Amino acid sequence: MEMKPTPKALFSPFTMGGLLLNNRVVLAPLTRARAGTSRLANALMAEYYAQRAGAGLLIAEATTISPQANGFVGTPGIYTDEQGEAWKQVVDAVHEKGSRIFLQLWHMGRASHSDFQGGKLPVAPSAIRIDGEGVRTPLGKKSHETPRALDTKELPSIVADYVAAAKRARDAGFDGVEIHAANGYLLDQFLQSKTNLRNDAYGGGIENRFRLLREVVEGVCSEFSAARVGVRLAPNGAFNDMGSPDFRETFTYAAEQLDAYGLAYLHVMDGLAFGSHQFGEPMTLEEFRAVFRGPLMGNSGYDAESAEAAIVRGAADLIAIGRPFLANPDLVERYRNGWPLAPLADASTWYSGEPTSAGYTDFPTHASAARKVTAA
Ligand SMILES: Cc1cc2nc3c(=O)[nH]c(=O)nc-3n(C[C@H](O)[C@H](O)[C@H](O)COP(=O)(O)O)c2cc1C
Repeated sequence: MEMKPTPKALFSPFTMGGLLLNNRVVLAPLTRARAGTSRLANALMAEYYAQRAGAGLLIAEATTISPQANGFVGTPGIYTDEQGEAWKQVVDAVHEKGSRIFLQLWHMGRASHSDFQGGKLPVAPSAIRIDGEGVRTPLGKKSHETPRALDTKELPSIVADYVAAAKRARDAGFDGVEIHAANGYLLDQFLQSKTNLRNDAYGGGIENRFRLLREVVEGVCSEFSAARVGVRLAPNGAFNDMGSPDFRETFTYAAEQLDAYGLAYLHVMDGLAFGSHQFGEPMTLEEFRAVFRGPLMGNSGYDAESAEAAIVRGAADLIAIGRPFLANPDLVERYRNGWPLAPLADASTWYSGEPTSAGYTDFPTHASAARKVTAA
């Protein structure tokens, strides 16, 4: 009698926000910078996402909500009607393949540069510069600048930009949106004590530091139903010079508060594979489970085995996979069949700025690579 392998939890379906996901593997949001100077999604991007539609859910790359949010060459936006329209081809291509797609909403805050801001300084909660390698701007590699602290009265328009972006995403057919509150971008800058030294209602204690994220969540949930809105947090991250001594208190509070909204999911970069700070024992998915009752997504450094283990032990419902997906468009099929993975894509091709297919859409599936070998 032929033995059937035990079905893996990773490949079991999951219902989230009324959406049936085919499996628990999520394409992590990955900036690939293929949109060119127009910041319009294009046919090449549609092909790239369609290639990766084996994932139960795709989170499309960080997409800026306003011109002020920009700070990266060639990343897409969703702050004009034309940009919203352009995303439709991506959404349609993924839906045709039977998967689901959320869009990640992004404001870079202090990680931007005046070269993207018509010569004006980038904005942030407080005038604290990133201690880091610098920024690639249209005019070349530049050092980080000390940002301008936002005035309290400027914040409602930023919230409005998130809401308008969510509306455009919904109109483009996205199944939902993910609010990017991780990796040292604007909302993370407000959340963390390291980068927020404000003395208005948006700074000081954690309740105040959480306020901007709360307003963005509430605004975006009024456009999409809350069950179609996810939030991404990076409690352990050091990317963009982050990490705060009170991280555990801050992120526990944030997750507790976010629990009230009935969100699609909370996306936690619990793993340390994307860099981590040294302010104490890293936070675990279990700590988030204890305070957040909705669907929980883990990320960073997972592979098929550790993703399966996290789901089986109940720590996560979904696992987002980033870098392994770059060179393995059929990653889920490879996981399912135990096929070998292609090596990590060359980092020089991760971001291009222009719609180039090299290192983007030109990775073969396992099946097509095998056919080539047989034919040779
Ligand atoms: C090329 C590249 C682009 C990324 N772009 C984004 C992004 O747009 N938004 C985001 O939240 N994280 C971004 N990340 C972080 C990934 O989503 C993910 O958290 C990280 O790669 C760790 O997961 P992994 O170990 O599975 O790769 C990016 C990472 C890489 C390598």
